[in-house]
Amino acid sequence: MLTFQLSLGRLRPWREGDEEALVRHASNRRIWNNVRDFFPYPYTPRDASSWVRSNKSYHQPNNFAVEINGEAAGNVGFTVKDDIYRFNAEIGYWLGEQYWGRGIMTEAVPILTNYIFDNFQVNRIYACVLDNNIGSMRVLESAGYRHEAIHRKAAVKNNQYIDEHIFAMLREERA
Ligand SMILES: CC(C)(COP(=O)(O)OP(=O)(O)OC[C@H]1O[C@@H](n2cnc3c(N)ncnc32)[C@H](O)[C@@H]1OP(=O)(O)O)[C@@H](O)C(=O)NCCC(=O)NCCS
Repeated sequence: MLTFQLSLGRLRPWREGDEEALVRHASNRRIWNNVRDFFPYPYTPRDASSWVRSNKSYHQPNNFAVEINGEAAGNVGFTVKDDIYRFNAEIGYWLGEQYWGRGIMTEAVPILTNYIFDNFQVNRIYACVLDNNIGSMRVLESAGYRHEAIHRKAAVKNNQYIDEHIFAMLREERA
């Protein structure tokens, strides 16, 4: 099984049995406020089942559970874009609130970045961060991503237009 050690846990593929912990950690308005609307809130057992079913892959997964204290408490993952953007991967991640501020994503995002460049034909990895999400911007800066752009009022969340910050790393900029 493909796993990556972290100081406080590990990254590993999603698997059956993760559903209960996934619901407990993911069903959180403070997480939902910073991610796309397709991320459910409230996060139901049915949402968790379909997430695990579509991600329980042991061969080059796109999403990894962030396992802390033996349970799935977050996710790091990516999607490869298509058409003229087919050499781009967009990353996304979230962590259960009880574990925020312990450096877990600062450690996990560089691992995910290397995994993508090592295993996929991707030339650029990027992330989209909503304006108020200082923690996520710090994670990306620490990982060596560059702040490329602000898309003014590009997103809508909670009925408000919000600036979106684009962070990216090119393959040639890998550490
Ligand atoms: C964003 C998130 C993934 C950060 O994960 P984390 O493991 O708590 O981050 P870290 O502990 O590695 O902290 C990274 C840095 O951000 C800082 N930070 C974390 N939360 C912060 C906050 N709310 N305000 C200001 N700074 C913050 C930390 O102090 C640290 O700073 P440093 O690099 O100067 O030491 C987590 O807060 C989360 O899941 N948020 C909700 C979902 C989300 O925003 N996903 C990303 C969408 S782009």
